[in-house]
Amino acid sequence: MMLPRSTSALRQIPAWLRDYSTTITKPKTGIVLVNMGGPENTDQVHDYLKRIMTDTDMIQLPIAQNKLGPWIAKRRTPEVQKKYKEIGGGSPILKWTKLQGKLLCDKLDECCPESAPHKPYVAFRYVPPFSEDAFTEIERDGVEHTVIFSQYPQYSCATTGSSFNEIYRYLKKKGISNGMKLSIIDRWPINSLLAKCFAENIKKELNKIPESKRKQAIILFSAHSLPLKAVNRGDPYPSEVGATVHQVMKELDLPQPYQLVWQSKVGPLKWLGPMTDEAIGDYVKQGRKTFIVVPIAFVNEHIETLHELDIEYCQDLAKKIGVEIIHRVPAPNDHPLFIEALYDIVKKHLKEKIPVSSKFLNRCPHCVNPNCAISKKWYSEVCSF
Ligand code: FES
Repeated sequence: MMLPRSTSALRQIPAWLRDYSTTITKPKTGIVLVNMGGPENTDQVHDYLKRIMTDTDMIQLPIAQNKLGPWIAKRRTPEVQKKYKEIGGGSPILKWTKLQGKLLCDKLDECCPESAPHKPYVAFRYVPPFSEDAFTEIERDGVEHTVIFSQYPQYSCATTGSSFNEIYRYLKKKGISNGMKLSIIDRWPINSLLAKCFAENIKKELNKIPESKRKQAIILFSAHSLPLKAVNRGDPYPSEVGATVHQVMKELDLPQPYQLVWQSKVGPLKWLGPMTDEAIGDYVKQGRKTFIVVPIAFVNEHIETLHELDIEYCQDLAKKIGVEIIHRVPAPNDHPLFIEALYDIVKKHLKEKIPVSSKFLNRCPHCVNPNCAISKKWYSEVCSF
């Protein structure tokens, strides 16, 4: 059976057949959505933690990481499994990432016929599907150009950097198939549609607060913290998170008090603060009891939003210390403005044809990680349009 390739022709056939046809049409452009991933069920928790604790790009333990890392992972597994049970048994990050990829590629197929058909792939760092799963599928599909698209809006060497180092290791070993072109999108902290999406979600939550209290509500932008060691090495993440916050406040255009705070500290080292829970506690002592909490560095719900923010802070802590009103803004998930943002970023990337950003190729001033040096050199040599 001959199937039409053009998107206008595809629109004339029934949806079920259109879906079938796009799955068997050779994709011209592959979009690899890169993220850390999260366990889909409690059986995956141990391996997930072990991969994190032994990832030297993500965490640098003071001694014998290959032994200490697995030991910490094993010790923490029951406590983390309990948290996943409390949010329904697993992380929804794969569900959201697949949906985001599908909606993004539908939009690209519709509006960018020159690079169509587009196909999404998922490459997680700590749970399947891994980079090797994504690139095995890409090779099988015979994709002409692959865009590796970080799903962390703000770049950190511990997150996007770690995933990109992992992809480098895999592709260096396997080789890039049949002259496929490769390019990367490594960060997008000030995308105006991303900011609009956050601003719209914030307005919705603000409007749920009685008018007499609304002006006093403090917007707490909460992002995953980093050890101060990484911050002082020059990791760009804190400044990029700050840039997103300011972009969102500009879009929001309200005289609302706001503060950037940091969450999810683990271990005994010093981390970037103020910590979200401590900030809420001290604001309450100052007499401020109305809050809007915004997960500003997560594009989909996962354990840090559903458990740490919703259960530990907005529910348990709030009740304990006498918070009057606290609302958590949803992650962007499948918000139409967020899908527009993803589309806008990829469209610009394909139009501007900058295969790799100069910012990505520039290492942190105090970087001592040899993985960063070799991986960035490799990307500078292989990325092209
Ligand atoms: Fe930032 Fe290596 S730690 S580039």
